[in-house]
Amino acid sequence: MVTDTAINSFWLARESNASLRRLLPRLETKYRGSTDQAAWEVYLARLQRHFPRLFERLHALYGRDYDFFYYLEHTLCAATEMWLARPPELKALDAMREADPSWYLSHRMMGAMCYVDLFAGDLEGLRRRIPYLSELGITYLHLMPLFKVPAGDNDGGYAISSYREVNANLGTMEALAELASELRAHGMSLVLDFVFNHTADEHEWAKRALAGDEEYQEFYRIFPDRRLPDAYERSMLEVFPDDHPGAFTYSNRMKKWVWTTFNNYQWDLNYENPAVFNRMVEEMLFLANHGVEILRLDAVAFIWKRVGTASQNLPEAHWIIQAFNAVAAIAAPAMVFKSEAIVHPDEVNRYIGVEECPLSYNPQLMALLWDALATRDVRILLKAMRHRFALPGGCAWVNYVRCHDDISWVFTNEDIAALGLDPREHRRFLNSFYTGRFEGSFARGVPFQENAQTGDARISGTCASLAGLERALVAGDAQETELAVRRILLLHGIIMLIGGIPLIYLGDELGTLNDYGYEQDPSKTGDSRWLHRAPFDWQRAEQRHDPATVAGRLYKGMLRLVQLRQQNLAFTRAETEFTDTGSPHVFGFFRNHDQYSVLVLGNFTEREQRLDARLLRHMGMRKTMVDLHAGRTLTATQELVMEPYQLMVLTRAV
Ligand code: GLC
Ligand code: GLC
Repeated sequence: MVTDTAINSFWLARESNASLRRLLPRLETKYRGSTDQAAWEVYLARLQRHFPRLFERLHALYGRDYDFFYYLEHTLCAATEMWLARPPELKALDAMREADPSWYLSHRMMGAMCYVDLFAGDLEGLRRRIPYLSELGITYLHLMPLFKVPAGDNDGGYAISSYREVNANLGTMEALAELASELRAHGMSLVLDFVFNHTADEHEWAKRALAGDEEYQEFYRIFPDRRLPDAYERSMLEVFPDDHPGAFTYSNRMKKWVWTTFNNYQWDLNYENPAVFNRMVEEMLFLANHGVEILRLDAVAFIWKRVGTASQNLPEAHWIIQAFNAVAAIAAPAMVFKSEAIVHPDEVNRYIGVEECPLSYNPQLMALLWDALATRDVRILLKAMRHRFALPGGCAWVNYVRCHDDISWVFTNEDIAALGLDPREHRRFLNSFYTGRFEGSFARGVPFQENAQTGDARISGTCASLAGLERALVAGDAQETELAVRRILLLHGIIMLIGGIPLIYLGDELGTLNDYGYEQDPSKTGDSRWLHRAPFDWQRAEQRHDPATVAGRLYKGMLRLVQLRQQNLAFTRAETEFTDTGSPHVFGFFRNHDQYSVLVLGNFTEREQRLDARLLRHMGMRKTMVDLHAGRTLTATQELVMEPYQLMVLTRAV
């Protein structure tokens, strides 16, 4: 039987071929003379390989417009011009990455993230701090948005006024490109954000829209009255309700409503307009040509909207990313995408794919690690990981404990309910625990975007403060301090060994505490995420080799974990097999490489735990095992005894 899909894909393939046949001679005439023959041939081969999927996606998005072909030609011209302008060093990198396309799956990969100003003052300062990053084994460095932004409140850089200008306080575009190159020479890939859902209201396009230019008003989602905004809002969730209710902001100047999912100065771009896609292709490749190797796609869930839906995670959002992916594969193949989707776990997984985003934050793991610490119960974590951790070939998670954003409890209601718990109550418990309101809690955090009516909230706070270090130090309690140190290392141990790229929020390796100073700063006070965005404490960093200090103990433990990961084959491109350890308090998984396999165990309680040694033997462990983490051999005849919050890495005979 011939199905509609089959006819459709036949038709698409034919049209895609026909379009390319028409476009190639035009590209030849226009650009062939601009580069040498061999390079041009290589480029054309890539274009031919990726064009069909680019065509298919753009056709799905814009094929109904009468001027579809005009925009398509423009996309290819932009890609070709940007490729021609690509520096030789990056073209060489393109060739290297094409020969080893899943380079980012290596167990050598170690991520770190920071704000340039808070970590090192400016780009030049950051260059001088490369030795610190090298010492930690970093190979992936995410610099938070460093572009031109409005003065004052700019959502920590996520309201961008120009994708082509670095914030003057931090440096210049040239300095950024030089830094990328120098990082590369030290084995580090530069990661930058592509904040492509919105621009600042001070972006040139927004300014023209404000001045009444209708061509640019079409770049955003702007409405003359409340009719459509009301219709959209009926089925939407609020993202930043503290800033403004709903998703729209009224502009007095235009006398119109603007779509602003986040803050009222962040204007959502209108991807229904193919001109927006094309202009953003140019901005994206401009970044690629400055040396970005991993592009973090910000807020992917929100880029397409439709009345009657939550306007999140719509199919078109995926098509847009896939189209960007195809363009990058043609013009800057060394650059790969990482998605930032902090949404329902099943939706998170839908952005992951070699032709969409091969890398993705793992918000579910992050949230459930904190869940397990609070409840001392790893069963939800285990269930969720078994169900959703495995990824398609060539893809990997970016696993993290904390980042610059709040913690939202992005696990599924079904996983909570399966344990007989009420999901709503459970999230309430976690909020109460991590704000320290819950009796006996070790944590010190602050609510973010708390909704007094529903009791919903998210959590701000540094890893150390949430893990109990702040409370313990204030109380001068040595034993609690020790437990907090162990909690921090346990969480980091899991993200380093579980599979994928671990990402350290710089400062966490030293146990940085909450910074309450933001309450005094009018541009920050409404946004509790500044609680965990403190200036990096370089004095504290100087204590890192002193085991008598808390910073020193943490740092040493962290280095040990990094080495464990980077020096063992068990952690390279190895599958992760989650296992029931027989205890609800001990999380366990195997990493299985061809000839080598380890069992990672983590005790999520402040009490000693005993595992049944026979059960371990059923899993293929021996009586005598080596704990690679502690660096000792142990024998477990009856029981394997684990200390409070202990992390073990046991070798398994293969
Ligand atoms: C992402 C960023 C967050 C920002 C938002 C809007 O979620 O991580 O910091 O507020 O996008 O750009
Ligand atoms: C990929 C990697 C593997 C990792 C998994 C989850 O399959 O090869 O190492 O465990 O992704 O990130």
